[in-house]
Amino acid sequence: MSNFVEIRPRELKPALLELDGISRTTIEAHYRLYQGYVAKRNEILSKLADVDLEAGNQVYSEIRALKVELSFAVGGVKNHEIYFEHLGGEGGDPGGAIADLIERDFGATEDWRADLKATGMAGRGWAWTAYDWDEGRLFNYVGDAQNTFPVWNATPLIALDVYEHAYFLDYRTDRGAYIDAFFENLDWPTVNDWVSKYGIPLK
Ligand SMILES: [Fe+2]
Repeated sequence: MSNFVEIRPRELKPALLELDGISRTTIEAHYRLYQGYVAKRNEILSKLADVDLEAGNQVYSEIRALKVELSFAVGGVKNHEIYFEHLGGEGGDPGGAIADLIERDFGATEDWRADLKATGMAGRGWAWTAYDWDEGRLFNYVGDAQNTFPVWNATPLIALDVYEHAYFLDYRTDRGAYIDAFFENLDWPTVNDWVSKYGIPLK
């Protein structure tokens, strides 16, 4: 891979520093982790530009190590860009298209919220509400790390970070209280913008 474009971290929205129940200290530390994922993504891609393609080996090789960890870095970038972008809102119940999708696919907002919270309690890193283009519906998927377990052809619309770095400073080990705070800071208009931008069908 000889040509790649370096990316830069997206700016942190000022609203992220004034969340309800998730402290500025947590967000600032969390944002630095995100900057680290961006830097490592760029570093790995620059090393792949010079990797020995003849030496590929499944037990160990430079290309194997770089490509496995690239998936971790890119996952860290994508997951956190969703996370930071859709926080800073009013929380509460959704409106607009996402409300219709949630009601259709989960029965009620409360059922979706309970399912995503339980998925977050069951995960070691992430829980996502994604629109699965093959199933034609929303589903709450679980992740243990930045690069597990993405499902092909599904578009994440909500990304709940349950790594301890997301909440330990504010809640110690009480992940459930953090998840409740996450819901109260969701920015539903941002999620609805994505539903529209991605062309997710409402029927
Ligand atoms: Fe995180």
